[in-house]
Amino acid sequence: MLKGRIRVPGDKSISHRAVILGSIAEGVTEIVRPLRGDDCMHTVAIFRQLGVEIIDEDDRIHIKGRGLHGLSAPAKPLYVGNSGTTMRLMAGLLSGQNFKSILDGDASIRKRPMNRVVAPLTEMGANITAENGQAPLMIRPSKLHAITYDSPVASAQVKSCLMLAALFASGETVLREPAPSRDHGERMLRAFGGTVHMRHDGLHVLPQPRLKGCRIIVPGDISSAAFFIVGALITPGSDITLTDVGINETRAGMLTVCKAMGANIEILNRREPSGEPIADIRVRHTPDLRATTVSGPIIPTLVDEVPILALLATQATGRTVFQDIGELRVKECDRIDAVAATLRGAGVDVETGPTSLTVTGRSELSGTEVLTHGDHRIAMMAVIASLIAKKPWIPDNYDCINVSYPEFMTHYNSLRQ
Ligand code: S3P
Repeated sequence: MLKGRIRVPGDKSISHRAVILGSIAEGVTEIVRPLRGDDCMHTVAIFRQLGVEIIDEDDRIHIKGRGLHGLSAPAKPLYVGNSGTTMRLMAGLLSGQNFKSILDGDASIRKRPMNRVVAPLTEMGANITAENGQAPLMIRPSKLHAITYDSPVASAQVKSCLMLAALFASGETVLREPAPSRDHGERMLRAFGGTVHMRHDGLHVLPQPRLKGCRIIVPGDISSAAFFIVGALITPGSDITLTDVGINETRAGMLTVCKAMGANIEILNRREPSGEPIADIRVRHTPDLRATTVSGPIIPTLVDEVPILALLATQATGRTVFQDIGELRVKECDRIDAVAATLRGAGVDVETGPTSLTVTGRSELSGTEVLTHGDHRIAMMAVIASLIAKKPWIPDNYDCINVSYPEFMTHYNSLRQ
């Protein structure tokens, strides 16, 4: 069982954005309790290559911002590792600079779709190329102008990429997406003094003469909390509290789904210390979970939580259906196939479609070997499943967990009784 109280590490999306905006603001930015996962540390390393002084000690990062036009040309290609957020957001920022740069990453990143940012940036006048729509990306200096853009995907990475480019474009950029994606970028740009408004016809972003450094307190990452939330729900005797977790409604769809499944979850002590709502989340074992259907506009609000929710579905009575999840096929791996293969290996009845996943519960889980494809969220799902499986689920790679949650095994061992 899981018992006790922990603070999960800082939010990945918010940590990336704080480093990026802090680097191009004027003055010092202080980031309190940022995530030190591999993905965010790649963003930090890239800004150091671009000439930004970043002091990383204790529970905070201090950035001496260089201003919107103060970055220096990098001597070498900029390496994002496994981080799609770094690659796509940096593509927007670098398109507005007066120097050449190359963005590259690991084998998984080189397979992921980049046209979703290359196409609109090109429309804005950027000189950006990607062979076959994939990394590496080559960016050369050019003048950017505002566009009105209807994104075919609900993606905060696309939205934040274009917001960053819009800071350097002449005119007012308007962005629309099929369903609202996480809004951390908009909230934080405002905190740095930027001008961004949500209107009936989309998100309006204005170019800026300057941004001003500030203090950002990073909430705990709900995408990391999700693993222990599900672990406690499915493991008899569990009772845990996760403190200071970000519950922004554009991010916290997994809580809504858990509630619909009958989960014993309490949201306590709601507050908003720094532009993002947070709360403590108490979770207790729930023996009578029931299946649900998860589809439509809620999907972008839980897009990273589908693997662990699929594990939850194995312990709910009935067929849980995830629809409109085509985006999962282009994450760190094809998460629809990776989840289906893993659950089937443990004896669960699973069906997949091009954009759907159906899991039949309640299932007893046997032991299985898990092919993670180097995907942190598949590896963490396997560790949590081992709490209730007849034999452990053995991931072929634990190291990838460092991408988003370096303390995961320590927290797991401290909660486990
Ligand atoms: C992220 C947005 C999501 C998410 C990713 C982080 C962000 O991607 O999957 O882990 O920080 O903007 P999309 O917005 O592309 O769906």
